[in-house]
Order: sequence, then structure tokens, then C-alpha cells
Amino acid sequence: MKLGIVGKGGVGKTTVSALLARSYAADGARVLAIDTDSNPNLGVSLGLSVADMENVPVLPRAVIVGSGGDRTPEELVRDYGRITPAGVSLLSAIKVSEAGAGCMCGGHATVRSLLGTALEEHADVAIVDMEAGLEHLSRSGGTLAHADVLLVVMEPTRKSVLTASRTAVLAEELGIPRTVAVGNKARDASDADFFRAACAEYGVPLAGVLPYDAAVVAADLAGGVVDAEQGVAVLREVAALRRFLDGVPVA
Ligand SMILES: Nc1ncnc2c1ncn2[C@@H]1O[C@H](COP(=O)(O)OP(=O)(O)OP(=O)(O)O)[C@@H](O)[C@H]1O
Ligand SMILES: [Mg+2]
Repeated sequence: MKLGIVGKGGVGKTTVSALLARSYAADGARVLAIDTDSNPNLGVSLGLSVADMENVPVLPRAVIVGSGGDRTPEELVRDYGRITPAGVSLLSAIKVSEAGAGCMCGGHATVRSLLGTALEEHADVAIVDMEAGLEHLSRSGGTLAHADVLLVVMEPTRKSVLTASRTAVLAEELGIPRTVAVGNKARDASDADFFRAACAEYGVPLAGVLPYDAAVVAADLAGGVVDAEQGVAVLREVAALRRFLDGVPVA
């Protein structure tokens, strides 16, 4: 499955990407996590130190991947992928390391092309952590055009649910087979009710609700992964989210 994680700024895309990736890897799946944020930090949520994350080589720009292209998926994963302590292979697609160096379109084109290839030999699951907003859906061809499923992360705000509904419309235009949403940072039952009601109102399929969990905040402050014991509440709902995603037809 090729899964794109999208949504408004700060809703928890990177957190959910890392938690899902860890959950799949813990069950023995081969997971390829692709960080497409120009300000990348998925590696830290997968257990890399900041120094190690900074050393993950950035994918070359505007590369055509696959048969007859510039590089094969094998070469990209071998030359640019790094195994993280969470057991997930990380690719860093885009990084702004120099001011005024131009747009990021070339990095997005490489990711689009990579996702267009059969990745089965390298990964059972590819998880793409997107940068905030909708631009990736309007870019030439759409970075995630070859995703099987888009997962829109929301927080308990009407604007983030509205973002999910706009995303679903654009994703359908791009031909992405399924878009579902997950509520994140629910502090109580009324937040969970809000997600259910607002998603019904805007016609967004709700795949699950993750609680606001102090273990996620603690991991963020410590610069590491969510502790399995401390984060039992959020991890239980991540497992439920996975069961939902595993039931989504991707053919
Ligand atoms: N379930 C949760 N419980 C508590 N805090 C959370 C939860 N999910 C995310 N957070 C916190 O919210 C903040 C934003 O999370 P994260 O970086 O994952 O969001 P993002 O959508 O990837 O942001 P950006 O748009 O900048 O890429 C972080 O401080 C993170 O620790
Ligand atoms: Mg992020």
C-alpha cells in the first residue's frame, strides 16, 4: 500500500506517519517512510538522532524512476535510504539547506515518479509524510498521484475538517482511489463527537480518532519516539487505525 499522509499545518502528520510506520514495522512489514517536508523531521520520530537525521542524503531532484528512467527504485532505496531504529527505511526527499535556492518541484517530481513504480520488492507499505497544505495536489501531475490511499490528519477544528473535505475532492480529480481522514489530538469524548459530526457534515470518511496523549508531547520534547508504555492510549488507537487501513481496498 502507498499511503500519503496529508493535512493542515501542525495537525500531527509527522506524528501519525511515524506511529503508523512503527506499527507496521513492529509486525514485520517492510516499511519505506518518505519525508517530503522541506523542513524534514520524520527521522527523529522514527528514532534517529538529529545529527543522524541531518546526514540522511536527500534524493536527487527531477529524477525519472523506473524502467527506461534515470534510476531504478532499487538504486534510490539503496543509495539514499537509511534504516532507522524503529526498523523503518527512511528516504528524505526534500530539504531546504540553502536560502534562495529555488523551488522544490524537482524533489516532488522524484517522489511522484518513485511512487509510480512497483515498490513491492522493497516495501510492503510506503508512507509519505507530506508538508502542510494542498499544494502537493496542485503541482504538475500531483506528488501523490500514484498513492493508493490519502490519509488526512485533522485536529478538533472545523478548518482542519474542511481541509480534509477539500483534499478529498482534489484527490478524486487526481485519480487517487481512496481518501479517508483521522481525527487527532482528541482531548475528550466531545472532541471525538465533533470529528464524527463534522466528517458526516462534509462527507469525509472517518477512519479513526487518536487521543491527545502526553506521551506524544514528551517524545517531541525529548526528540525521540513515543514510549510504548507511556503512549498506550494513542498506540491502541493507532492499531485500530491500521486495522481500518488494512481493510481499505487498494486494487
Ligand atoms: N496525539 C497527539 N497528542 C499530543 N500531541 C500531539 C499529538 N499529535 C501531534 N502532537 C503534537 O503536535 C505538534 C505537531 O505535530 P506534528 O509535527 O506531527 O504535526 P505536522 O502536521 O507534521 O506539522 P507540520 O505541518 O509542521 O509538518 C507536535 O508538537 C506534536 O508533538
Ligand atoms: Mg510534519
